[in-house]
Amino acid sequence: MPEMARTAVVGAGPAGIYTAEALLKLGHRVDVLDRLSCPYGLLRYGVAPDHLKMKALEKTLRRILDRDGVRFFGEVTLGETITVDELRGHYDAIVYATGAADDRSLSIPGEDLPGSLSATRFVSWYSGHPDIASRDVALDAHTAVVVGAGNVALDVTRLLTKSAEQFHGTDMPDRVLDTLRASPITDVHLIARRGPAQAKFTTKELRELGELGNADVLVDPADLELDEHSEQLAEQDGGVRRNLDVLHEWAQRSPLDRERRIHLRFWRSPVRITGADRVEGVELGRNTPDGAGGIRAGGETEMLAAGLVLRSIGYRGRPLPGVPFDERTGTIPHCEGRVLRAGRVAPAEYTVGWAKRGPSGVIGTNKADARETVAALAEDWEHQTGRNRGDRPDLADTLAGRGHAAITWQGWLAIEAAERELGRRLGRGAVKITDPDQLRAVVRMVLR
Ligand SMILES: Cc1cc2nc3c(=O)[nH]c(=O)nc-3n(C[C@H](O)[C@H](O)[C@H](O)COP(=O)(O)OP(=O)(O)OC[C@H]3O[C@@H](n4cnc5c(N)ncnc54)[C@H](O)[C@@H]3O)c2cc1C
Ligand SMILES: NC(=O)c1ccc[n+]([C@@H]2O[C@H](COP(=O)([O-])OP(=O)(O)OC[C@H]3O[C@@H](n4cnc5c(N)ncnc54)[C@H](OP(=O)(O)O)[C@@H]3O)[C@@H](O)[C@H]2O)c1
Repeated sequence: MPEMARTAVVGAGPAGIYTAEALLKLGHRVDVLDRLSCPYGLLRYGVAPDHLKMKALEKTLRRILDRDGVRFFGEVTLGETITVDELRGHYDAIVYATGAADDRSLSIPGEDLPGSLSATRFVSWYSGHPDIASRDVALDAHTAVVVGAGNVALDVTRLLTKSAEQFHGTDMPDRVLDTLRASPITDVHLIARRGPAQAKFTTKELRELGELGNADVLVDPADLELDEHSEQLAEQDGGVRRNLDVLHEWAQRSPLDRERRIHLRFWRSPVRITGADRVEGVELGRNTPDGAGGIRAGGETEMLAAGLVLRSIGYRGRPLPGVPFDERTGTIPHCEGRVLRAGRVAPAEYTVGWAKRGPSGVIGTNKADARETVAALAEDWEHQTGRNRGDRPDLADTLAGRGHAAITWQGWLAIEAAERELGRRLGRGAVKITDPDQLRAVVRMVLR
């Protein structure tokens, strides 16, 4: 294999960084580009701040980006700062690892009322994502409704329920802590359209709700009655069985009159969000099992008074200029990681992570996925058409020539140090800086 091939990985989330690691093993030089100033994608801006063990994975990803042979280019957006054609001129191969940043809609009346927002937005806000951190999310309601039964719905429910003090040891921005501290929320209803056997959340994450200390978890035993299909699932799938065990235990518990309550409610779909000029309630329609794991809608409805509705019904890929996109799946069409253009393999273009698979899977899933994509790239490189030309321009020179100040690895290290310093001043561990101008100022001050 020729040495020193140059590959661009677009997206510095877990999938992009694991791809960089696998490419280094092949002897490639790798540039990892991200539209944000900071690396780590959803590990920094999605994984719940109180999941400290998971957050510590940043150290593993950091060691990869810190290696010789890898460069980080923050604030470089594919389609804005640089085009696909330009990248082709700079690199032997391109890997798209841009994730799935958009949200999905319920398509029901009232969804756009103030007080109704996506979990995607809410998660970005409490994670200090620069796209939204400067805006306030109002938690001025006693009752919140979370729609969806995945792990993100559990994260959001937990975040709404825990006290602000329980987040002190996290990197959560101070203004988010202030909002949580002032939150009048007493009741959070998690609404699942299917039954408990079909829920997507995992048992470890479900159990956490029962360990919060300040909240009772309420489950109606009638919601846990299983149809034949669900019973079969519970027999075959240990994860389903364990979830059911936890839910049954909660259904039998007597409430302890704690200050907050989490209501887990199955077999219901929101059919309408009501309110004159902001959310005042949700009309829930009753579903019944269709015998094959799906639902029959159209049962009786009930009104639930609530001032906040968070839809946590999955993420969705965002099309990239110049890159094929499958509207149906919200992903980049590919074959084992090789990008398909009009159904045919495009030379030297690859994809990985949520951009490739869609918005499912934990951080570790992306490592195996990166191995698949890089194996395809290595195979193509062996038989290759586009041998390393060696005379390609350097992206750093091109950007500098345009007066574009990308955030380098040194720049990111300066941000890391500034976040530790901010935390020290606040009597906390590292605390996120969220304002893009402030992030740039930190970098300028240290690297000038
Ligand atoms: C709310 C939430 C909580 C989660 N919690 C956990 C958890 O606790 N444990 C766990 O194992 N998994 C968790 N996951 C799943 C995990 O985060 C994903 O598996 C993983 O982040 C997907 O990696 P990715 O690199 O494909 O995408 P991402 O992490 O989204 O990274 C994509 C990167 O591409 C960049 N990008 C996008 N467009 C462009 C562009 N045009 N130009 C340049 N850069 C671009 C983005 O800025 C981003 O940095 C969670 C997911 C969510 C949504
Ligand atoms: N701690 C962790 O490990 C952790 C934390 C967060 C996220 N993650 C991972 O990140 C990935 C994404 O998580 P996610 O929760 O966003 O997605 P998810 O696991 O796909 O769950 C989405 C939920 O939304 C429901 N839904 C979809 N459309 C709906 C509609 N129109 N009306 C009502 N409900 C609807 C789904 O129900 P149906 O099943 O009926 O479609 C499902 O319950 C998952 O792989 C997850 O495991 C992991």
